[in-house]
Amino acid sequence: MKNPIRIGILGCGNVGSALVYLVAQEPDEFTVEKIAVNRIEASREPHIDISKLTADSSSVVVDQNVEIVVELIGGITVAKDLIELALKNKKPVVTANKELMAKHGTELLRIAKDNGVDLLFEASVCGAIPIVRLLKESLVGEEITRIVGILNGTTNYILTKMTEDRLDFEQALQMAQKLGYAEKDPTADIKGYDAGAKAAILTSSAFITFVDPDSVFIEGIADITLQDIDFAIKNGMVIKLVAVIEKLRNEISSELQISIRVHPMMIKISHPLASVRNSYNAVFIEGEAIGEMMLYGKGAGGLPTASAVLGDILDAKHNMSLNTFNRFAEPRLIPIYDQNKLTSEFYIAVDVADEPGVLAKVAQIFGSNRISISSMEQNGFGQNARLVFFTHSAMEADMKETVNQLSELESVKKVGSVIRVMV
Ligand code: HSE
Repeated sequence: MKNPIRIGILGCGNVGSALVYLVAQEPDEFTVEKIAVNRIEASREPHIDISKLTADSSSVVVDQNVEIVVELIGGITVAKDLIELALKNKKPVVTANKELMAKHGTELLRIAKDNGVDLLFEASVCGAIPIVRLLKESLVGEEITRIVGILNGTTNYILTKMTEDRLDFEQALQMAQKLGYAEKDPTADIKGYDAGAKAAILTSSAFITFVDPDSVFIEGIADITLQDIDFAIKNGMVIKLVAVIEKLRNEISSELQISIRVHPMMIKISHPLASVRNSYNAVFIEGEAIGEMMLYGKGAGGLPTASAVLGDILDAKHNMSLNTFNRFAEPRLIPIYDQNKLTSEFYIAVDVADEPGVLAKVAQIFGSNRISISSMEQNGFGQNARLVFFTHSAMEADMKETVNQLSELESVKKVGSVIRVMV
């Protein structure tokens, strides 16, 4: 008979409970030794053996019988201390903690390496989609040029409902909350921070570097209106919250740099990412040799995420049996490309008073900031007039200045959404 892998689990929420369920299907392969929880008395699903629960999380990490530690509590401080303790006790760790891996991944991976054990984190980005392993292993020889990902299911669900069911942002958010996609406090999802942390991990994994998640340029989706969505549709596009990770050269020094940004984007309906609906995630990769590639799947939820955790557990066990651990590549420093210098085509909506001369003043501001308009449409009249522009490729800094100057024009009531357009 086989020796089952002896697991200690930190946290028994949605993913922890699903993991216990999955491992229970293979009793010859796995056994759960202990599960650390905050509240022992909380009600649990029937497959959770409450005799395994403990409130003492360190006891799970140092338990002689625990071979592999699975961290599913999330957050930074406690999780980091426990992971460090496990690694220093020569125990491989599997984690789904994106916040922690984005902020302290390099430091923790180095501790893992120094102790000769694995720290695996496939489940920290896009749940069931095996993107971390793909970037670190399968594509390690590839010259990746750009990654564009829909990394957040909640915002993708909201934008899908706005597009297909014509719900406004608040209604779509409420539906996402009712279905359990969005948290009661949805800030991290709708403001783009969740996708930003995932983008930082993907960048570090793809380019063997370290990116502080605070250096990712982030804009969320809370200001997207149905009018923006309608305008996109009319022009054969959809609006998606995307993370873009791109290798660029500094124009002066020609030094290699990386641009990392999360923001809404108008995407042509013919692009594969446009067909990613509801709470699904997808990652579109472009590389010198591979051309284009896309991975699509469930980016959140108990079972999909637990499946990724289980894959890492098996990987860690395999490595343990060979007395080895996954390769650790020393990260190189790659500077972040200045967002202000990026160029993009833009959509911009401006609410104005419909009076003679207003369009000329607005157009003058675009022109004086070196922005060339590719099309313009007026919707509504009188006090409810809206001018909608598409621009040719323009620099971010110039667009920012244009928006500032437009906002100061007396005849401009409001500058609405400014959305980048993928070309
Ligand atoms: N809240 C995330 C999402 C899942 O909606 O995709 C966890 O990262």
